[in-house]
Amino acid sequence: MDEDNQDILSGQSENEQENYIEKSLRPQSLDTYIGQTKIKHELEVYIQAATGREEALDHVLLYGPPGLGKTTLAMVIANEMKVNIRTTSGPAIEKPGDLVALLNELEPGDVLFIDEIHRLPKIVEEMLYSAMEDFFVDIVVGQGPTAHPIHFPLPPFTLIGATTQAGALSAPLRDRFGIVEHMDYYTIEELQQIIFRSADIFQITMISSGARELALRSRGTPRVANRLLKRVRDFAQVEQRSDVDQAIVAYALDLLRVDNRGLDEIDLKLLQTMIDFYQGGPVGLGTLAANIGEEPNTISEMYEPYLLQIGFIKRTPRGRIATSLAYEHLGIPETKGE
Ligand SMILES: Nc1ncnc2c1ncn2[C@@H]1O[C@H](COP(=O)(O)OP(=O)(O)OP(=O)(O)O)[C@@H](O)[C@H]1O
Ligand SMILES: [Mg+2]
Repeated sequence: MDEDNQDILSGQSENEQENYIEKSLRPQSLDTYIGQTKIKHELEVYIQAATGREEALDHVLLYGPPGLGKTTLAMVIANEMKVNIRTTSGPAIEKPGDLVALLNELEPGDVLFIDEIHRLPKIVEEMLYSAMEDFFVDIVVGQGPTAHPIHFPLPPFTLIGATTQAGALSAPLRDRFGIVEHMDYYTIEELQQIIFRSADIFQITMISSGARELALRSRGTPRVANRLLKRVRDFAQVEQRSDVDQAIVAYALDLLRVDNRGLDEIDLKLLQTMIDFYQGGPVGLGTLAANIGEEPNTISEMYEPYLLQIGFIKRTPRGRIATSLAYEHLGIPETKGE
């Protein structure tokens, strides 16, 4: 409620309010964290064991496509361990001194969360090895002839790293994580639960048919579900609908060009290009990217994982191919030919 007052006083409205809502959308405990059942069960055991021994939790690596709840899960872990969490990201730690400053502020058992950990500068990453393994860093102070190393002990802490590309992590770094978890896309049922929960927070009356339609269009991703829910809320308000049902969701998302499998214009362009110009493939990532005017990384991290998951494309040694499901979805007859 403080936020509301601040709004009026500071005039710094929407962003703070959005931040506030964003925070309240994040579940705080393993109990309220929806889906990722296997990961939750494992973490429950590890957290209980570490707490019982009064030790820091082992280092955790979370990997998977964007928006699946890695940051949220890191916060939940810190909460369950009843410790503080400091969050930062790989590119934000530019030099060893930045890392030392972060580590220096940790209390025993605290969590240091590094998002996009695959983007840590090499020299910082190397310093992290001893910090993770033996809780110390060696730093060199002074320059030239007066330069000398200082051995800097650290409290036991938990590093939680998040990445969309586990493959981009060097082996020595990956090997120092005791707990490695792969985040999966959410099922329609899980997304529906998330949508009902968020709708409650937004004070929207969500009908089952509406939640289902929204879940189908959320590409397995809670962040997408929440984002689409906000837009649907706008349409419902302007159309003066008190209940959000299948019809208003379909109406709003059709206008936003999110189709009934959650594909947007870029997904469709990607599939269409594969089919129109390359007879469905195989076609290389670089070629595809150049054709549709996107970065190869954007395609391989943001678009492909979901298209692979729903079986619309396949990866072969010779490149990507569009499957029969993709042809069917686009309503294009499949011509067999080599
Ligand atoms: N299991 C979940 N239950 C309910 N809501 C969730 C869950 N996971 C994520 N969310 C919601 O989805 C949104 C995105 O989650 P989060 O920011 O944790 O994703 P992320 O994996 O860290 O994404 P990125 O890789 O882009 O950093 C948040 O608003 C959060 O509230
Ligand atoms: Mg995140």
